[in-house]
Amino acid sequence: MFLINFSFVKTALILAISIFLINLWLSSKGYLFTEESIAAVARKHAAQFKEKVDAPTVEAAYKRIHAELVKKYPGHILPKKDLQWMFVNAGGWMGSMCMLHASLTEYVLFFGVALDTSGHSGRYWANISDTLLTGEFNQWKEGELKMNSFHAGDTVFHAWGEATSVNFKAGTWMVEYGRGFIPSTLGFALADTFFSTLDFVNLYYILRIYTKALLLEAKFFLTIGVDSIAEYL
Ligand SMILES: *[C@@H]1O[C@H](CO)[C@@H](O)[C@H](O)[C@H]1NC(C)=O
Repeated sequence: MFLINFSFVKTALILAISIFLINLWLSSKGYLFTEESIAAVARKHAAQFKEKVDAPTVEAAYKRIHAELVKKYPGHILPKKDLQWMFVNAGGWMGSMCMLHASLTEYVLFFGVALDTSGHSGRYWANISDTLLTGEFNQWKEGELKMNSFHAGDTVFHAWGEATSVNFKAGTWMVEYGRGFIPSTLGFALADTFFSTLDFVNLYYILRIYTKALLLEAKFFLTIGVDSIAEYL
């Protein structure tokens, strides 16, 4: 009995210390992107959809955003040949994402839906901001009796620890930036795959692209030398 309690206390202690250290690291490390830098790029392209004048297709807009980010963050954005749209089933909703960048503490991806969908946002150990290119996103925050509507050019902020009810209208496409302890978001992102869809092909795609993104970051750090790495830690 004593042994069991002791190992429980030990586990709890290790967990608490790990959370404390990761939080300390997250609050003191340098970051590659800022919420505003990603939102600004997306906003520029959203303007065309907002004014509905010479609006390109969403595909064309995403192509340009990708090219712009490759130029702005060389060595950190997955190349065109690795870009892949894959379904994400989580919290009861179904969307599609195309990952551009992911590390242990940041990610940038394209996200959207071609059909209406709703569900639980997930409660994350990460701040997530979404800037809409087209469509409509409705967010109902916990504890509130009303919802907020977002459209082309708007940025929706989802703070860590927060949970909301989300509703995406068909044809809503956005650019998403996440910052926090990214591996912790995988649990929610994959839960519906394990307990509902059992779509293991999709699971393979998601894990493969996250691995590719992590390898790209590893490659970057191997080429810049030890002195520069300190900047990012
Ligand atoms: C997440 O957002 C909050 C503000 O809501 C901020 O205080 C915190 O520093 C952010 N975390 C990171 C890792 O940027």
